[in-house]
Amino acid sequence: MIIPIFASLILLFLYVFVIKPLCPMIKLKMQFGQDCNMQYNFFGRDIWKRLRDMKIFNDIFWSDKEEYKKQPYKFKVSNSFWKIQIQVADPEYYKQMLHNPHYYEKANNIADKHLLQKGLIFETRDQWKAQRRILADQFQYQQLTSRLPMINKIILDGITKIGSQNNLFEQLELITGKVVIQSFFGDSMDGLKINNKDLQVEVTELINDMGELRFKSKYVFIKRLLLGTWAWNIFPIQEEMKIEQRIFKLKTMIEKVIRKRLIELRQSSTQNDQKSSNIFLDILLNDYIKNDQKKQENQAIDEVIQQFITLLFAGTDSTAVLSYHCLYYLSIHPEFQQEVRDEILSICPEEYIVEDKLKQLSKLSAFINEVLRLKNPAVNLLMRNSTQTHQVKDLTIQKNWRVIINFQFQLLSEKNFKNPNDFDYKRWLSPSPILCNNDFVYLPFSSGQRNCIGQHMALMEAKIILSQILKQYYIEPNKEVNPNWNLRFILQLQPGNCMKLFKMIEKQD
Ligand code: HEM
Repeated sequence: MIIPIFASLILLFLYVFVIKPLCPMIKLKMQFGQDCNMQYNFFGRDIWKRLRDMKIFNDIFWSDKEEYKKQPYKFKVSNSFWKIQIQVADPEYYKQMLHNPHYYEKANNIADKHLLQKGLIFETRDQWKAQRRILADQFQYQQLTSRLPMINKIILDGITKIGSQNNLFEQLELITGKVVIQSFFGDSMDGLKINNKDLQVEVTELINDMGELRFKSKYVFIKRLLLGTWAWNIFPIQEEMKIEQRIFKLKTMIEKVIRKRLIELRQSSTQNDQKSSNIFLDILLNDYIKNDQKKQENQAIDEVIQQFITLLFAGTDSTAVLSYHCLYYLSIHPEFQQEVRDEILSICPEEYIVEDKLKQLSKLSAFINEVLRLKNPAVNLLMRNSTQTHQVKDLTIQKNWRVIINFQFQLLSEKNFKNPNDFDYKRWLSPSPILCNNDFVYLPFSSGQRNCIGQHMALMEAKIILSQILKQYYIEPNKEVNPNWNLRFILQLQPGNCMKLFKMIEKQD
């Protein structure tokens, strides 16, 4: 009796972990030959490799990049346990994929399902469409430019103090977070503190801590890969439990503010005193009130909380990290620093930087482009799951395959960029910076319907932050620290004091 049971278990094991993933992989290899890189991973070998790359090279994609350099391919097919994973590197293929986002759902292997799942980044189908429609107006170029005086004021106030602070990155986060809060949530959320930290700092640290925990514990990495957002509730380790407590505290605090505002809006709607407001929180809550409050109140409030956290995180962290990465490259290239500063001083002598001046800052724009080419905080798109079997040109992607669209290889390829590993911002001042352009090689904010809704806001803000810093300070590398490129939720240079700022007047003295 024992022998047949044992034999059946072995057969089942072989089927699930060997035959099931290998058959479609071999089929693809036979169809595409050299264009398809095939890698079979026995029982999660890829996971150890990624964690090792992260530990040794601080770059989770290190092996992938080396492999691609040796033998470029259109896509790589591999497996994690029984799941097939396809990594697409050819722009002609991912162009088509980005234009058909309905075939994919973003896999949330970072956050707990009560934190971001209902926000614009992870939401799917009709719910995503409805949210994007409501939010899109607020990101229109004209709406953004109307906020320029407020953005300038916040940045100028923050920059004046920045040189005397130890943690430059945290100061940048305070500025970008304040801009997001003021732009979209008005005074109601301004100045909130949690665990002795400003709200925006706690939100970004919390989400990044969740992202980073994957790389600190193999157990957490595998659990999240296999179970997604459910992983948090299954045999949590102590760090996961601590994070859950922080989430609870954060959400409780935001909920109080939202409920208070809902009562105010309800009162003004019954008294027919409803003023049109372009603050997100009001738009989202008015939408709920107007739609006959079809949803349960708790559910509606939870969705607003998750949207708030999504926008606060997306808007604060990415722009602060981009500005920080730019400051780093300015610090290690003093000659470029002076060229960009000269441009800013000649075009923007006034205190505030207004729209038409922003457009004239061609060297600064080129500099940011080059930083986004080499160290984009959004280094890869989020991993997706294919929701149905579909065709991408001659490639058939089966339902439930994991899909990764990888922009990085094109950005570091000699086919597309001259001396691709050199930091040379001037390439973006030439008429054709990309050698072999099909418009899908350089996509720092992605493309198609699910592109970055905040891209104009991010660039506008980063340009003002950098201009104001360059007008007031010299930037030098901090020789006392060892800079590291870490993948947390996004790619980020650490620690937060890799550069030092010196007031220009003090330095001249
Ligand atoms: C340097 C700054 C930024 C970069 C590099 C960046 C990059 C990206 C990328 C590549 C995506 C696509 C992700 C994917 O499909 O997997 C994305 C989506 C998104 N970004 Fe940004 N982003 C930046 C700033 C911002 C800002 C300032 C906001 C909001 C205030 C924002 C909000 C969002 C949202 C809500 C999405 C999801 C859009 C959707 O799926 O409809 N981002 N971003």
